[in-house]
Amino acid sequence: MPENGQHSGPRLAPSILAADLGHLEDEIRAAVDGGADYVHIDVMDGRFVPNISIGVPVVEAARRVTTLPLDVHLMIVEPERYIERFAEAGADLLTVQVEACVHVHRTLQQIREVGCQVGLALNPGTPVCVLEEIASLLDVVLVMSVNPGFGGQSFIPTSLRKIQRVRELLDAVNPEALIEVDGGIKPENAREVWQAGAGILVAGTAIYSSDRSVAESIDAFRAVFVD
Ligand code: DX5
Ligand code: ZN
Repeated sequence: MPENGQHSGPRLAPSILAADLGHLEDEIRAAVDGGADYVHIDVMDGRFVPNISIGVPVVEAARRVTTLPLDVHLMIVEPERYIERFAEAGADLLTVQVEACVHVHRTLQQIREVGCQVGLALNPGTPVCVLEEIASLLDVVLVMSVNPGFGGQSFIPTSLRKIQRVRELLDAVNPEALIEVDGGIKPENAREVWQAGAGILVAGTAIYSSDRSVAESIDAFRAVFVD
């Protein structure tokens, strides 16, 4: 098993939304021991998305379990009100949805000021051009390949072309920035998503709700990128 960060292909971010939250510590450890690169934590408020998931205390709990970067995906309205609290809870990468930000430039600066890596997520219906004025502020662009709110949905095929267009835009102004892709990612589509330009793949059900163990599921992703 290669050590974290020393494998070829994209980084992997298992989403604990699909984990057994009654055994959160074990579920996170399984991902860490299996070679995950991040722990992806989906925060939903029942307003920006129709579902309610988890909040600050769960990020704190995850922080106590691992030193892996916590990738906190805020699917909430008015995210600027909570950035400091999620940073204090231990988020390393903090991603807000562009559709939830009235003053997105300010909100991204706010994330930088609290010392987190800066992520911006785009819903499937949101055009790539929203990045034009702010791309240089970002560490990560999160391309949603499903409509956010629930795990277990199917990958929207037009996301591939969108990932390519985000990559072209970033290459021109901020080539260090990574593209993360979230929703319906499985070993079967991981290669084409990576080839389109993704540097980080989020996977919930494919890692936590498959027939395999968490470690075997992560291995199944890694196997896709062994030449
Ligand atoms: C969806 C969340 C995802 C979700 C992905 O709104 O942002 O992170 O956990 O789940 P899968 O991999 O099952 O599509
Ligand atoms: Zn997510």
